[in-house]
Amino acid sequence: TLLVVVCTVLAYLLGSIPTAIWYGEAYFGIDVRKHGSGNAGATNTFRVLGKRAGTVVLLIDAIKGWISTSLALMLYYGHVVEWNECQTLKLVFGFAAVIGHIFPVFSNFKGGKGVATLLGMVMSVHPEAALVCMVIFFVVFMSFHYVSLGAIIASLAFPILLLLRTFGKENELVIVFGFMLFGMIVITHRKNIVRLMRGQESRIYLRKKKE
Ligand code: G3P
Repeated sequence: TLLVVVCTVLAYLLGSIPTAIWYGEAYFGIDVRKHGSGNAGATNTFRVLGKRAGTVVLLIDAIKGWISTSLALMLYYGHVVEWNECQTLKLVFGFAAVIGHIFPVFSNFKGGKGVATLLGMVMSVHPEAALVCMVIFFVVFMSFHYVSLGAIIASLAFPILLLLRTFGKENELVIVFGFMLFGMIVITHRKNIVRLMRGQESRIYLRKKKE
């Protein structure tokens, strides 16, 4: 149990690494929180600092979630926990990482919106469902050019796909965590939702539009 507590704290600390803020400050001398949407995430880094910076932040934030979640596998392969417990711990550690990303101890508890870290978590918990959710994200994003809308719909798709038994019988707890995380995503995107409803959300284009 001590190891479980240590891993939960570790996952929270990993999630807390404010990639967007540190990367922007280190390579551009720019605090992304003072520009664009003000969010410390991959989307706003893309918006403010460009494609390469946005991609790096997306990857690192996703890897944070993936490594944190995978700490449970280390406990399993180290014969500390059984397979069933490992599945539960993946959810606990992944959740801790997403919470860390949103409320990072390293930047006054003001972080990002949790999308990339959640993606990393879901890829470790359920790769097939993660893949389908990524496709759903891209379809929504390429149709409307709103990252926020794509993220909200894809994060709802995850527990729904599992609820519908799309990939066979699922552990109920994964579905419960899926809905909880969707709830978190809605909360962190509350301002985006208002902007979407008013038609004021900023659109993101992967290619610069021709003038
Ligand atoms: O990465 C979070 C995304 O869904 C929205 O980001 O900067 O447009 O508020 P942003």
